[in-house]
Amino acid sequence: MKLSINMAMTLDGKVVRPDGRWYGLTSSEDKTQMDVYRSQSDAVLIGKNSILNDNPIVKIRAVPNALNPRPVILVRKGTLPPDKHVFEESDHIPLIICTKSNLKEIKTSLENKAEIFALDSDDIDPKKVTGILKRKGYKNVLLEGGPKLNFSFLEADLVDRIYITVVPYIIGKTGLAGIADRNSELPGFDKQNWTLKQHFTKGNEIFLVYEKS
Ligand SMILES: NC(=O)c1ccc[n+]([C@@H]2O[C@H](COP(=O)([O-])OP(=O)(O)OC[C@H]3O[C@@H](n4cnc5c(N)ncnc54)[C@H](OP(=O)(O)O)[C@@H]3O)[C@@H](O)[C@H]2O)c1
Repeated sequence: MKLSINMAMTLDGKVVRPDGRWYGLTSSEDKTQMDVYRSQSDAVLIGKNSILNDNPIVKIRAVPNALNPRPVILVRKGTLPPDKHVFEESDHIPLIICTKSNLKEIKTSLENKAEIFALDSDDIDPKKVTGILKRKGYKNVLLEGGPKLNFSFLEADLVDRIYITVVPYIIGKTGLAGIADRNSELPGFDKQNWTLKQHFTKGNEIFLVYEKS
């Protein structure tokens, strides 16, 4: 199974606005390219905060006749409101991966809205997540963030490819996340470099494709 991060990033490397959300800084070119990447994927992995803050719709619009990937959402604590777009508007019933500590809460709010898979632990080990997705037969999985989730999968060395769109804005504010974010560095970050496989422009944006060396 191949796991690919897909993120849009400003010229100064930020992936969230000062209000902690991401909207209005991507062009129609980026949205189209995102649909191309989604059309090549069986599943899309999304973190809890991204669902809460951005309420994304996992539905391909720009690629005719494409099959929509299945949303897979990771929730370690608490639950999510059932009226989020991902539960109302996806072609496939979302898969929620949770822990033994929040299973009851998740079942209470999302029983009829998602397939629920509880790990037998209080944390969500990314290796267990990829194991579940492999067993389900998924071959290409897109990790759409946010940065905390990306960090966990990078730390576990599970990311094969990174798609980055550079969007023409500079935010400047200290402390806003980049594509991977935690209050520590990625172990061995200066030993693992990424190989540029592709780069192209569309409109005013640059699209980069890096693969693990
Ligand atoms: N620019 C872009 O392309 C782009 C793309 C996506 C998102 N974003 C932005 O990123 C923001 C959210 O980023 P974020 O980093 O705060 O949140 P996130 O990565 O979307 O979600 C992180 C949360 O997911 C849960 N989680 C479950 N398993 C996890 C694991 N193994 N490792 C880490 N987290 C796990 C945790 O919540 P609990 O412990 O509470 O369950 C954690 O706090 C969004 O608001 C959006 O604006 C930008």
